[in-house]
Amino acid sequence: MRSTVSVIKADIGSLAGHHVVHPDTMAAANRVLADAKRQGIILDYYITNVGDDLELIMSHTRGELDTKVHETAWSAFKEATKVSKELGLYAAGQDLLSDTFSGNLKGMGPGIAELEVEERPSEPIAIFMADKTEPGAFNFPLYKMFCDPFNTPGLVIDPTMNEGFKLEVLDVYEGQSVLLNSPEEIYYLLGLIGTMARYVIRRVYRKADNMIGSVTSIERLNLIAGKYVGKDDPVLIVRLQHGFPALGEALEAFSFPYLVPGWMRGSHYGPLMPVSQRDAKATRFDGPPRLIGLGFNLKNGKLTGPSDLFDDPAFDETRRVAAIMTDYMRRHGPFMPHRLEPTEMEYTTLPTIIEKLKDRFKKEDSVKAKPSVYASKDQGMD
Ligand code: F6R
Ligand code: MG
Repeated sequence: MRSTVSVIKADIGSLAGHHVVHPDTMAAANRVLADAKRQGIILDYYITNVGDDLELIMSHTRGELDTKVHETAWSAFKEATKVSKELGLYAAGQDLLSDTFSGNLKGMGPGIAELEVEERPSEPIAIFMADKTEPGAFNFPLYKMFCDPFNTPGLVIDPTMNEGFKLEVLDVYEGQSVLLNSPEEIYYLLGLIGTMARYVIRRVYRKADNMIGSVTSIERLNLIAGKYVGKDDPVLIVRLQHGFPALGEALEAFSFPYLVPGWMRGSHYGPLMPVSQRDAKATRFDGPPRLIGLGFNLKNGKLTGPSDLFDDPAFDETRRVAAIMTDYMRRHGPFMPHRLEPTEMEYTTLPTIIEKLKDRFKKEDSVKAKPSVYASKDQGMD
């Protein structure tokens, strides 16, 4: 049976700052999804949040970019926004960039990851959802899961994984993508995906049979809207087991709290902290960036689960290291590399400061001028 899991998320406003979704807004979204399930548009669903992002997980047989499924998500976000506005929640409706729905949600603000598969007899999946960071934040764990045998021994031990994987890397600035082979081309791959702001691993395929292994949301709201309007907090769906990463291999990729861009005012590097759904709220310095993971089985288009994957003492040490890193990074205050490079900051105040000071800068003939590193995104400053 061919079925699709659609994970669609948006920040439609949150309680006491950008930190957590209010339960009443989730209840409003739930009414819409329950109705869509009654009508048979979707077969199953689960609603959750990470920080200020409302996450709709839906399963169905309508394929990717289906108008009815996307319209359902749009109505859910609209209804949730209504409640958000009634309660005076902060930044109500912030990620909904358009007033009218036309066909599908692409380019309209919500983040989307859709995995369409021919169901295996058992189809285990993990869904990872993060707040206060951006889609390129998943490059590091995807590389670990699908390309690094020190993380995923299955690449060596499981004959169905031996041939490796193909990774589709999207250049979000130029709107073009390239398919790279692992392990043969991992140095080229790493050359690109280390630049998290620009290159995003969108999909991974198993080389042996072209079966899809993962899908990442690729929306970058600041690029969609031309100016910063909201966060690009990403979601990732990973297919597990039997020739794909085992659940534990997928989770192992998050055991090191690596640094990601985002955090306070979308302008700082901070450690990605894997937490349970209970702790999925952004508090200290609006973070640190949080990640939740949910495990499901997909059968006949229905979802069994979830299991709250990071609700586990095995990740206590990761969280402790993340807390230490939080202290370490915070002590840099407004200095890079805690603060992001100017081209990637959510609040681009630097041009304003330079403008204000322009008459006070004196020419120094002894110093040869270099091209401005702040002038354009094309100068390798991503
Ligand atoms: C970052 C984020 C928050 C806000 C910060 C300031 O993605 O959501 O860190 O940027 O709370 O928010 P405003 O500018 O709305 O006061
Ligand atoms: Mg968010």
